[in-house]
Amino acid sequence: MLKARTIFRQFLKSPNKVGAVAPSSRYLANGMLDELSWDTLTNVVEYGPGTGAISRHLLKRIEPHQRLFAVELNDQFIPVLQQKLPELEVFNESVSDIRAICDREQVDFVDAIVSGLPWTAFPEPLQEELMNATLSVLADRGQFVTFAYVHGLPLQNAKRFRKRLKDTFSEVSISPVVWRNVPPAIFYSCRK
Ligand SMILES: C[S@@+](CC[C@H](N)C(=O)[O-])C[C@H]1O[C@@H](n2cnc3c(N)ncnc32)[C@H](O)[C@@H]1O
Repeated sequence: MLKARTIFRQFLKSPNKVGAVAPSSRYLANGMLDELSWDTLTNVVEYGPGTGAISRHLLKRIEPHQRLFAVELNDQFIPVLQQKLPELEVFNESVSDIRAICDREQVDFVDAIVSGLPWTAFPEPLQEELMNATLSVLADRGQFVTFAYVHGLPLQNAKRFRKRLKDTFSEVSISPVVWRNVPPAIFYSCRK
């Protein structure tokens, strides 16, 4: 409940940066994580963990030989994450700086990115900047998984984002609607 209230308050403050009124459900989180080729992963990054709705499922699946870290821009979420998920390594920075973050952390390439960013709420130039930054760290054949709310799909921004994914990645698949999420969502599973 505390986590739901935290995310709702932050949404009211910055709707275009937070982009969600409630944390993702376990059905959405696990649907996204089922897409990853876990046996082949070394480095996994989560974008925009918020209050940790997806992170806690990531932490359950990650093996000791694999590295996971998260990048969260909003400093209000950092103490929540530290309290709820102390084992999650999280950097209070922007995904725009993911290349510099990986360099600092001595991670050459990332095998999978699980994104919670509200891509379709971003203006085009920011979307492009974040996608270029993503491509600079994602390994060849690396995976990128992200979600979008169903009610927003008919909007131009959402259509443009879907086109961007198709233009950027060699494979893009779209999930069935995850109804057990507030609001209902789909996710995109992409391979570089
Ligand atoms: C839609 S919420 C998702 C929260 C959580 N992953 C979930 O699924 O419930 C989007 C999150 O992305 C974060 N965010 C937005 N822009 C970001 C950026 N440039 N870099 C890192 N995090 C960002 C927001 O602060 C927020 O926590």
